[in-house]
Amino acid sequence: MQVTYQHLSQKSIGQVVTEHPELVKVFMEYEIDFCCGGDRSLEEAVRRDTDEIEALKEAVTVALAHAFQVPMNGRNIKLSSLSDAELIDKIINTHHAYLRGVLPEVSTLLFKLLNVHGTAHPELFEVHHIFGGLKTELESHMIKEEKQLFPALLNKQDGLADLIGVLEAEHDGAGDALHKLTEITDHFKVPKDGCKTYELAYAKLKELVADMYMHVHTENNILFKRV
Ligand SMILES: [Fe+2]
Ligand SMILES: [Fe+2]
Repeated sequence: MQVTYQHLSQKSIGQVVTEHPELVKVFMEYEIDFCCGGDRSLEEAVRRDTDEIEALKEAVTVALAHAFQVPMNGRNIKLSSLSDAELIDKIINTHHAYLRGVLPEVSTLLFKLLNVHGTAHPELFEVHHIFGGLKTELESHMIKEEKQLFPALLNKQDGLADLIGVLEAEHDGAGDALHKLTEITDHFKVPKDGCKTYELAYAKLKELVADMYMHVHTENNILFKRV
C-alpha cells in the first residue's frame, strides 16, 4: 500500500522522519521543525510551522510515492536500523566533526562582516552575538555528549534521564538561536551591497542549520529514545 500524508498525520513528526527519511528534504524546504519539535504530531507541526499547508501535503505525498517506486539508495539509509555504537560513531564523525570545523570558520567570517558591513547593516551585530553564544554552547554540549552520555550509553548505564534532559534542553536552546538567525537574516539573504565574505558566511550558516536539523533529529528522536 502506498503511504500518503493522511496516513502519517497523527504520528509524531520525529517518528515520521525516522521511518521516511525521504521527507527530510521536504520538511527542510518548508522549514518544518522535526528535530527539537519532534514530539509534535505531523499535523500539528505543519499547522504551526507553515502557511503553505496544501503545497506541503502535496510535496509529502509526491516524495512518499517517489520513494515507493524508486527504492532508496544507500544515501538515505535508515538511521533507526543502526546499532547504538554505529549511530554514535556517525554522530561524532559526521555532525560533531563538521561542527568542530565550521564553528570557528563562521565565527571568523562573521567578525569580518561586522567590521566591514556592521554600520550599513546593524542586524549583523545581533547575528554576531547570537552566533557567538551558539558556538560556545555547542562546544560544551558536544563534550558532554562525547565524554559523558555516549560512553554511558555504550556501557548500558542506568540513570541517564537527567543528563538527557539537560542535553535536550540545550538542543532547544540551539534550535531557538538558529531560528532567530534565520529570521534576522531573512533566510540568509545576502543584501545587494554584500561581498564574497557575506555570501560565504550566509551560505555556511544555512548549511549549518540544515546539518543541525539532522544532528538533533538523530539524537532526540532516535538515539535518546532508546534509553
Ligand atoms: Fe551531538
Ligand atoms: Fe546534541
